[in-house]
Amino acid sequence: MLRVLVMVSGGGTNLQAILDAVSTQKITNTEIVGVISNNKNAYALERAKAFKIPTSCISPKDFDSREAFYENLLEAVDTYNPDLIVLAGFLVVIPKAMIQKYRNCIINIHPSLIPAFSGKGFYGLKVHEEALNRGVKVVGATVHFVDEGTDTGSILLQKAVEVHPNDTPETLQKRVMKNAEWEILPEAIDLIANGKVKIEKGHTIITE
Ligand code: GRF
Repeated sequence: MLRVLVMVSGGGTNLQAILDAVSTQKITNTEIVGVISNNKNAYALERAKAFKIPTSCISPKDFDSREAFYENLLEAVDTYNPDLIVLAGFLVVIPKAMIQKYRNCIINIHPSLIPAFSGKGFYGLKVHEEALNRGVKVVGATVHFVDEGTDTGSILLQKAVEVHPNDTPETLQKRVMKNAEWEILPEAIDLIANGKVKIEKGHTIITE
């Protein structure tokens, strides 16, 4: 049984997609052992509580330094003894010590087809604003493993979504979440939970 810890900062719609997928067996061989948020007001925490999943809130505001926050964050992660850590809209930079300790065991959902519209500063609505400014016809989402860079780890799954002529950043974000993110993030967890993912020479290989 894969022990999965989900890390959140906001509304938690990706967390909800994961919880629903576990309930309906779209994700098998998996237990969501906990949810950690850096934001005590994150609605994602309510979603976890509704599923009786243990939660922790580790807020940078509660610590005198970034280092102290990072130390406590990693300690909190370790208490859940996770096999896989899923960043589902987690807006905090992951400490290097955590990436090293959980090498190839942390995945992230990014709301673009990496490498497009990714890297420092590309998160939330900005990703979709830039896509519309550039006039791209296709956008999408990516699940990738987390390394020391920003959105630079090996890509596991991607799903494309068409841009509509009258799209706004908000309508585009919603369609990318609904038609791409909420599908490929649960799928990625199920693949990992069932031993179908390996990483060779920095690239992921999915074995059916
Ligand atoms: C999503 O758009 C995801 O792509 C990005 O952060 C947002 C999280 O949304 N990483 P939610 O908290 O899962 O609703």
